[in-house]
Amino acid sequence: MSLTVQSTLKLSSEAAIPRIEFGAYLANEEAVYNALHAGYRMIDTAEFYHNEAECGSALARWLSETGSKREDVYYVTKLWNSHHGELAANAINDSLRRANLDYIDLYLIHSPLSSRKLRLETWKVMQEAVKAGKIKSIGVSNYGIHHLQELLDWPDLEIKPSVNQLEVHPWLPRKDIVSFCNEHDIVVEAYSPLTRGERFKEPVVQELCKKYNKTPAQILIRWSLQQGLVPIPKSNNQERIKTNLDVFGYSISEEDMTKLDIESYAPVTWDPTRSGL
Ligand SMILES: NC(=O)c1ccc[n+]([C@@H]2O[C@H](COP(=O)([O-])OP(=O)(O)OC[C@H]3O[C@@H](n4cnc5c(N)ncnc54)[C@H](OP(=O)(O)O)[C@@H]3O)[C@@H](O)[C@H]2O)c1
Repeated sequence: MSLTVQSTLKLSSEAAIPRIEFGAYLANEEAVYNALHAGYRMIDTAEFYHNEAECGSALARWLSETGSKREDVYYVTKLWNSHHGELAANAINDSLRRANLDYIDLYLIHSPLSSRKLRLETWKVMQEAVKAGKIKSIGVSNYGIHHLQELLDWPDLEIKPSVNQLEVHPWLPRKDIVSFCNEHDIVVEAYSPLTRGERFKEPVVQELCKKYNKTPAQILIRWSLQQGLVPIPKSNNQERIKTNLDVFGYSISEEDMTKLDIESYAPVTWDPTRSGL
């Protein structure tokens, strides 16, 4: 069946998430509001982005204007590194308060950059927050295989991670982590799917843009969707917000997908997955 903007993926928590998510790092309230109007139904923010309040306001405005229900939108936020361990309980309450929400749909550990003890204590707090109804699903971000294995092997694990959010694009395919996640029913969300624009001029991207009559951003988002990932493009520009969502009426052929099968390790952001902490 072909993908549409309404298509969803089932998480191990049983929640159904959209196939594409709006990235809110450095996004303003207007952009989040425009993204909801354009058709995005999942918003990715974080304590670290200092815009949870703006994301919550944009959501509230959109809900009241359209008469939609809170459960029509999937709100994602993340715990920053300095709040691992018992501090996570307050951090969750603070995120809820800032966004003026009753619950968070998906709460992620932003990165594994603390210690084994603190990461597992954090997970315990997150499991309790799910039981208390503050969070629906829990997951991680920037976890390498060794960090995921540590969590899956932990005897007190009651709720498995639903998601691992990672930088993934053709120049950072992360096949090892992605296949580990697939084997363990962990959905991979792909951040910086546009490589922050750094690879738009690559000959292979330009060739596919011409062939399919698409923008570089649309080619990279479509690649991500066809890999089974959940891409998280960000834009503050109303036109680009719309065109980045126009990726459902066509597909890249298998042969052309192979052209984007690039063996490379070229992050455009940070990479905590390799951390030995
Ligand atoms: N978990 C993590 O550690 C982590 C790390 C990084 C990112 N993320 C998440 O992933 C999201 C996306 O990643 P990102 O913001 O790093 O990068 P990205 O989405 O790959 O690229 C965003 C950049 O591309 C530009 N852009 C967007 N659409 C465009 C288009 N159609 N044509 C030309 N330029 C375009 C944007 O500028 P304009 O705004 O001017 O359009 C912005 O400068 C973030 O917002 C955040 O939610 C998570």
